[in-house]
Amino acid sequence: MTFKRDLIRTLSKKNKIILSKYHYDFRGSKLFEKITQQKDYYPTRKEKEILRKIAPKIKKLFKGKLSYVEIGSGAINKISIIINKQVKFYVPIDISYDFIKNSTKKLKKKFPFIKTIPVKADYSKKFKIPTLKNTTKIFFFLGSSIGNFHNKEEISFLKKIKKNIGKNNFLFVGVDLIKSKVILERAYNDRKGYTSKFSMNLINIINKSFNAKLNKKNFYYVGKYNTKLKSIQGFIVSKIRQSFYLNQKKFKLKKNEKIQVEVSNKYTIKSFSSLSKLSGWSPVNYWLDKSKYYSLFLLKS
Ligand SMILES: C[S@@+](CC[C@H](N)C(=O)[O-])C[C@H]1O[C@@H](n2cnc3c(N)ncnc32)[C@H](O)[C@@H]1O
Repeated sequence: MTFKRDLIRTLSKKNKIILSKYHYDFRGSKLFEKITQQKDYYPTRKEKEILRKIAPKIKKLFKGKLSYVEIGSGAINKISIIINKQVKFYVPIDISYDFIKNSTKKLKKKFPFIKTIPVKADYSKKFKIPTLKNTTKIFFFLGSSIGNFHNKEEISFLKKIKKNIGKNNFLFVGVDLIKSKVILERAYNDRKGYTSKFSMNLINIINKSFNAKLNKKNFYYVGKYNTKLKSIQGFIVSKIRQSFYLNQKKFKLKKNEKIQVEVSNKYTIKSFSSLSKLSGWSPVNYWLDKSKYYSLFLLKS
């Protein structure tokens, strides 16, 4: 229900948008996993490099038993890098529940000593974290998902998470850094076309939900870096003048009219440190990959 209402609302705006969380049906999650395996898409590679650097330090950083809670966990292919015997619980939280249930099973096979509790939730709303007794809770928000909010909503998101998890817990946040437009745009227009397939999958999702009869052939995808906003903006563009109905409401698209389907804000170390402080968190440390493309922040609540 929310999806339908939200979609009608955001497509009724002058500058039409679709929120990024709606990409992730099972197929969308699979396609995102494909994107992360592309050479052009550096964030996954760089974040894994940093996690490998941190892995031997976990024992020093956090004493005693630990619970790992991963917000927007997706394919769960990063967390295993930093799992050690201290970890008693692993809680992946995602909107794409069937997908994370599958991924959790694979993790459980690798680490049978961990209790896994997959949770279906929309993290942009209020959500409940299971009770994780006698452990320090370490949260993870990886994959530069912090950049996927419109209108600085990442600040209210970080504030809400802090309130939800209480004092003296930790949050690792993967933060993609500002860099050359060429590298950024290549990452969001990968040569094998998976980013395009991922974005065009929204047409399938809309057709399935509303019986809308949109034809993918009448759209194309493009990802552009907006230097002023320091943000990648992904669009599906209408090749023709066309109209369609969602719940009896008529929507018109002009030729070349764009629907924004992706936002990926980029930061500097300074800008993200300030943003986290503004959101009530204390930055403890941050790490960079060798090429300084990407950073991983550790924040304390
Ligand atoms: C950019 S992907 C990152 C996946 C993974 N963390 C990684 O680093 O590769 C975003 C993930 O968050 C999930 N997601 C997006 N918006 C969400 C929301 N509002 N609530 C819950 N999960 C969401 C998606 O299903 C997807 O698995």
